[in-house]
Amino acid sequence: MLRFVGISILTFGLSFPTIVRAAPYPQPVRARHTMVVTAEREATHVGFAVLRAGGNAVDAAVAVGYALAVTDPCCGNLGGGGFMIYRPAHGTARFLDFREVAPRAARADLYLNRQGQLIPGSSLYSWKAIGVPGTVAGLELARRLWGTWSRARLIAPAIRLAQSGFVLTPGDVRLFDDDAGRLAQDPHAVRVFFSHGHPLGVGVRLRQPTLAKTLERIARGGARAFYAGSIGRAIVAASRRHGGILTRADFLDYRPVVTHPLRCRYRGVDVITAPPPGGGATLCEMLDILKGYPLGRYGFHSVRSVHFITEAMRFAYADRNTFLGDPAYVHMPLRRLLSRAYARSIRHRIAPMRATPSSEVRPGVSLNPEGHDTTQYSIVDRWGNAVSVTYTLNTFFGTGFMAPHTGFFLNNEMDDFTTAPGHPNAYALVQGAANDIAPGKRPLSSMTPTIATRGGHLLIITGSPGGSTITTTVLQVILNLVDYHLGAAAAVDAPRFHMQWEPDQIDYEPGAFSAQTMDLLRRSGYRLHAGSPWGSRYWGDAETVIVTPSGWLEGVNDVRYPAGLAQGN
Ligand code: DON
Repeated sequence: MLRFVGISILTFGLSFPTIVRAAPYPQPVRARHTMVVTAEREATHVGFAVLRAGGNAVDAAVAVGYALAVTDPCCGNLGGGGFMIYRPAHGTARFLDFREVAPRAARADLYLNRQGQLIPGSSLYSWKAIGVPGTVAGLELARRLWGTWSRARLIAPAIRLAQSGFVLTPGDVRLFDDDAGRLAQDPHAVRVFFSHGHPLGVGVRLRQPTLAKTLERIARGGARAFYAGSIGRAIVAASRRHGGILTRADFLDYRPVVTHPLRCRYRGVDVITAPPPGGGATLCEMLDILKGYPLGRYGFHSVRSVHFITEAMRFAYADRNTFLGDPAYVHMPLRRLLSRAYARSIRHRIAPMRATPSSEVRPGVSLNPEGHDTTQYSIVDRWGNAVSVTYTLNTFFGTGFMAPHTGFFLNNEMDDFTTAPGHPNAYALVQGAANDIAPGKRPLSSMTPTIATRGGHLLIITGSPGGSTITTTVLQVILNLVDYHLGAAAAVDAPRFHMQWEPDQIDYEPGAFSAQTMDLLRRSGYRLHAGSPWGSRYWGDAETVIVTPSGWLEGVNDVRYPAGLAQGN
């Protein structure tokens, strides 16, 4: 079915309709009581089965977390980390930070040679790129604090999927093909994902017996089996053999953190999101700036809307890259960055219809900062408890390395730190001293799992992968619903754009702008770049649940990720 996703009338000297786009977005899945949306259908089935059998949203989130580690190995993981926002129907929302941490031996110059230059690839595809994984500790803590089912019961579906396998679809194998060259370098990965020298194809059953054994160990021994037991030991031993720096103490030290989410308000909507080291502060700063502009009146992707949204992104990312880091290590001027006065001062610096050169945007708060593998899932249970999880190995399949006898990939999250002054990371982010490497520190992340409510009622459960574009993706899902009233499917699926201060350009997805809009943007001083800031075509899939005013749950599996599924009842 064709639907109009936006009509905008532009008043820019002349007046004419710029965008009238009809897009064949699939309808959302509608349900009354429960909803699970993930990037992989088998994992969605697992979460839905938990909810149907009486588990709550956290039970389902834990089961999905383990299942995705089996069925979506590019992104779902045991060897990475992430964030969870949990909003119980009654009680206080919580933020669970199970981000990886830098090993004890890591220092700011870990990836530099004697001349102080970055050793190419060392922060991404070497054993030194691995942060101490947080996923197993995080999922276990969530289960103990807020879940109701036993560990063994929640891990059982993942074990079954690993042992008996599942049949690969085109969506599943897309990433094996894209990353075949890298996966081929690890003999353990080759054993699992290759047959006769080629990556497994569509219709083949993917079995992962080694991973099944690892999951069985975790089911029996919990997080201890991972951090104090044979799994951690296998990783440390492999790291040592290959020139890595992980130690047993790093694993014994690892702790997830439970804290308050960050909150901000946007046009009557309460946004509950990930505080640093997550991306919520940047999301809230953009929303605070955009409050001052009637975006709905300007129209979806009209030149004026794109201009003001882009400028909000530019200023907020300048602050992100300068001031933000792990709150346990750096003092951040969050209160001032998220104050009304600061948002107003930025609006004063934004010209009505002229790009601000990024070189002229120095972060606005004078203060000494001292003083391509992620997945999102969203769940609502029959009681109205909601969970949003984003977790990751960083780039697809992380380092691409597995320790022997473990069956899962290890992350390369260390590249999210400032690896060398002035040097862009894998997502073209140039970051500052606040995000320098230090032992036990968490690298700054763009991951922004978010839950929004209106009048105390659930409205949006969302988040996304996509590196530096994650936070602007979450922003656009919110704007598309709140300002442009696009409806659930179009809010998620409509083409997006992005700006991150440096590089000084608007990155956009195909179809995001009409030719006229692009022309007017160029004439206003913008450089336009098709694709992500780091040159890939990849844009994150925002697996999302929307609650309609009449209480329907609408689950949207992002069209960008056809392997996913929304399921509810
Ligand atoms: O935490 C971050 O910001 C990144 N490690 C996320 C990486 C990511 O989203 C890759 N996905 N495509």
